Amino acid sequence: MENRASFAAIVLAAGQGTRMKSERPKVLHELAGRPMLAFPVEAALSAGATRVVVVVGHGREEVEAAIAARFDERVTTALQSEQRGTGHAARCALPALEGFEGDVVILCGDVPLLEPEAIDALRGAREGVELSLLTCRAPDPKGYGRILRDARGAVVGIREHKDASEAERAIDEINAGVYAAPASFLRESLEALRADNAQGELYLTDVVAAAAARGGARAVTWSIESVGGVNDRAQLAEAAAILQRRIAVRHARAGVTVRDLDRAYIDAGVTIEVDAVIEPGVTLRGETHVGRGARIDVGSVLTDVTVLPGAYLKPYTVASESRVGEGAQIGPFAHLRPGSELGPEVHVGNFVETKKTSMARGAKANHLAYLGDGVIGEGVNVGAGTIFCNYDGFQKHTTVLEAGCFIGSDSQLVAPIKVGEGAYVATGTTVTRDVPADALAVGRARQENKEGYAGRLRRKLKASADAAKAKKG
Ligand code: UD1
Ligand code: MG
Repeated sequence: MENRASFAAIVLAAGQGTRMKSERPKVLHELAGRPMLAFPVEAALSAGATRVVVVVGHGREEVEAAIAARFDERVTTALQSEQRGTGHAARCALPALEGFEGDVVILCGDVPLLEPEAIDALRGAREGVELSLLTCRAPDPKGYGRILRDARGAVVGIREHKDASEAERAIDEINAGVYAAPASFLRESLEALRADNAQGELYLTDVVAAAAARGGARAVTWSIESVGGVNDRAQLAEAAAILQRRIAVRHARAGVTVRDLDRAYIDAGVTIEVDAVIEPGVTLRGETHVGRGARIDVGSVLTDVTVLPGAYLKPYTVASESRVGEGAQIGPFAHLRPGSELGPEVHVGNFVETKKTSMARGAKANHLAYLGDGVIGEGVNVGAGTIFCNYDGFQKHTTVLEAGCFIGSDSQLVAPIKVGEGAYVATGTTVTRDVPADALAVGRARQENKEGYAGRLRRKLKASADAAKAKKG
């Protein structure tokens, strides 16, 4: 239920973001694995917004789809079909808030680093005035709206960079583009906006002067790191770096050893349990989960992977949509492709590729192998250079290795195929028929030793090389 203290949020996200120079709508560019727009929406929800209206326009279908995929019915969209400025955008959201009489917090879709605490502070500052807004001191205020104050220091309005005089441009207090005001005031003041400015747009910033003239406007000063707008890709990279460090610090404070806070690339959706170790240059993407005490070594890249407690992923392991069991040891240089389900104590070594393959407890493939579409039983040993020949050019087929069997090095298993419990496949065998339990499969030419032949062969080869040289002159 919405009570007096409940608030709604409007997130402006209809602009094209020309300065991004991109086919993609600006607000869908990603940081830490999420579209930029998701961050202000999440901040509003976690600060307690009962509903959020996102104003969409440019790239509307894509933006709407991204919102629907991520949020529940508290988050809806309103259309701004023509981009006539931030004030016009906010106006477009009002019909969606019809009947709502509480406070409205307005945020920009391109300000991804704002914390819910800033929204709390902004709402607190609204007490006794008509409108509160977030500002900050910027060492390089170019491009931002400047905060105008009167002789007593009260906020009287905002001047956009393009409209500002030299003296106004010298002001280093800038507008973060985040405001709180009652719905009734916004309805009135947004209706009254005029496009009499350098850009011929309806500026949302003009409502600040209207509020100042009425019940007053109060600024809450926040850190530049949190309120920086992303307008081009350099700013996107800077924001991503700040966010990445914030995420690393959050995990470190929660009991994860993050060896280098500036070189741990951890997406916002990743979860990590205590005593896990994240070494430098590790990238954890999507919904990856790292269990208690697991160690992810240098240069590993995990996308939507679950790593169970105590597993060790050695340097340069690349894995996606897979599961690594307790105490398993993977890599260095292993490649776990989607559907790899590795049980407890499994070993997968260097230059081993797995795909849609399960390995039960204690199974090992330590060197140079391709294991695709396999079901590998407990304690199986797969020798170096083994290949599961899973594809016939039309279909994929399964290789089943039952518990305790042993696959000699450099064997090929031509699927569909099954090797029974405890069976042996001799080194260098091409297995084309099922191997019964406890049997030995050997499929290679029998070895013959010709005594003294090497010397004779060497003499013969040398003579022919000499003859060729003599002929050449
Ligand atoms: C705006 C502020 C500026 C502030 C800065 C902070 C105005 C006039 N200026 O400038 O004072 O310092 O943010 O980052 O408000 N949008 C729409 N429809 C439109 C225009 C914009 O939805 O017609 C959306 C954009 O998608 C974006 C947000 O509003 O998410 C801000 O627009 P942008 O063009 O980036 O404004 P700034 O020039 O950054
Ligand atoms: Mg902007």
